[in-house]
Amino acid sequence: MNNSRTLKLTGCLFLLGAALSYAAPATENWDNHCVKCHGADGKGQTKVGKKLSLKDYTDAKVQAELKDDEMIKTTTEGFKDKAGKEKMKAYGAVLTPDEIKDLVAHIRKFKG
Ligand code: HEC
Repeated sequence: MNNSRTLKLTGCLFLLGAALSYAAPATENWDNHCVKCHGADGKGQTKVGKKLSLKDYTDAKVQAELKDDEMIKTTTEGFKDKAGKEKMKAYGAVLTPDEIKDLVAHIRKFKG
């Protein structure tokens, strides 16, 4: 049995495991998935955001009206307008429940 080889293999498996369980930080997920519409500053003043008349997450009144569990639900299941047309896709398949929870916490930080 070649010991150094076993050691290398164990190290590789360890790194693979670490990579698979990796959850991207909220800032990274926000940049990758949400900025396009909601904006880097959360104001929703992007080209798409303006068209969708998105809420301004720096507005304390908007923040007060938002409920954490609804934010989690919308992010997980997506947002449809009254006509049933999808305006924001469901992220439940792309992001883990923990990542979505972190994103909601991230949105809360835009206030003030
Ligand atoms: C294609 C554009 C688009 C993208 C991308 C997008 N959203 Fe939205 N989002 C919307 C629209 C449209 C609404 C509904 C209007 C509003 O509340 O401003 C919305 C609403 C929300 C709400 C408010 C839900 C509520 O309870 O009122 C949250 C929270 C939210 N988005 C989070 C996210 C997160 C987190 C991401 C990234 C993972 C994201 N959005 C990506 C368009 C988008």
